[in-house]
Amino acid sequence: MMVGENVVSFSEIDSTNRFAIDNLDRLPSGSVIWSLSQTEGYGRHGRAWYSGKGGLWFSVVFKPTLIKEPNEYTKTVSVAIVETLLQLDFKSVRIKWPNDILISNKKVAGVLTEAVFTGNSLNGIVVGIGINVNNEIPAELKKIATSLNSVKGTYISLELLLGKLNKRIELLRKRYIIRGKNKYLTRLWKKHLAFSEGDEITVSLHKEEKVTGIIKRINSSSLQIEREDGEILDIKSGELIL
Ligand code: BTN
Repeated sequence: MMVGENVVSFSEIDSTNRFAIDNLDRLPSGSVIWSLSQTEGYGRHGRAWYSGKGGLWFSVVFKPTLIKEPNEYTKTVSVAIVETLLQLDFKSVRIKWPNDILISNKKVAGVLTEAVFTGNSLNGIVVGIGINVNNEIPAELKKIATSLNSVKGTYISLELLLGKLNKRIELLRKRYIIRGKNKYLTRLWKKHLAFSEGDEITVSLHKEEKVTGIIKRINSSSLQIEREDGEILDIKSGELIL
């Protein structure tokens, strides 16, 4: 089934990711769960995700056959968001490793991928997408986050945006995932990253620890950085400070 062929929509729900995970067995691959608001939306590291009315909050279900690496689905969706926004004439759209979408260095969208297993076998991958569209940005986040509406100064239709995103996700899935061409997907994803190999960056790790260094290599699932003292670190997850 194509992405977006089956859309389950709600005016309010706890979390579209949670719904997708709880109902995974009866949701065909490509299903989209969409809600106008979420009462318990969550982001990476279990953080609460503000999901008031006006934003685009949805999850896509994948039941992989060939490529089963969750990261590849995160990349597919991240690239789809960037390409769709560029197509809608937004400028300076970048991916902040690992999975934030920025416009002019402010976060406009986040992606949360969750893999669901029974024992060792993968039942499915749920990719949750949160995009600030016409919603208010809470005051405490205004320095670091923005919405499509405030960038463009006009109201943006959620249906239209969702439709375009689903088409783009499906196109990239066909082009790269189904054919096992993820090497090319990684290349495309790297092109849209907010930084590249050779740049100096600071990453904050989980326990308030921060490391600064030069990016040696960007892999699809980790970031290799070289610190001033020559030590090389392989970072799998963390928060980049721009
Ligand atoms: C992040 O930046 O930490 C990822 C945020 C992901 C939020 C989306 S909104 C739709 C879906 N349902 C959730 O509860 N979370 C994701």
